[in-house]
Amino acid sequence: MLNNSIQKALNKQVELEASSSQFYLSMASWSETNGLTGASNFLYQHSDEERFHMLKLVKFINERGGTALIPALSQPPVNFKGLKDLFENLMEHELNVTDSINNIIDLCLSEKDYTTQNFMQWYVAEQLEEEALARTIIDKLNMIGNDKGGLYLFDRDLDTMATEMKQAEDAK
Ligand code: FEO
Repeated sequence: MLNNSIQKALNKQVELEASSSQFYLSMASWSETNGLTGASNFLYQHSDEERFHMLKLVKFINERGGTALIPALSQPPVNFKGLKDLFENLMEHELNVTDSINNIIDLCLSEKDYTTQNFMQWYVAEQLEEEALARTIIDKLNMIGNDKGGLYLFDRDLDTMATEMKQAEDAK
């Protein structure tokens, strides 16, 4: 059975994962309308993954005898200055998600809820992967700078990454 403070923290995480999904959906849509097809495929895929992260939490809360709360969400940003600005926003958001996950783990340890702590390790590993990926993308965008040809090729790379991410997620 979940105690109240852990249930509250997990429901807050449900909201954060749902808002991540909406945020990346907004980024995908912006990319699509700005001719960045690869980036939009990558971000649609990322948005789907965040929804999966949210669902996994909802099911865990309910299975442990708690009540998952499905939150209302606020409007995410709709405009970005460019792909670099967009991925910097994504990185900042992911760092906040990681902080939140680490706080839940701290709480689990202080409340001696080792089942939830064990469950949350999946999110720790996922964050490690996502942060590394976002960092690589930002490094590449820094190298490309204002080179339109470089950006075109990188957009195609993002398309390939989106396909690989989908295959890796399907295999999990
Ligand atoms: Fe599920 Fe990227 O946070």
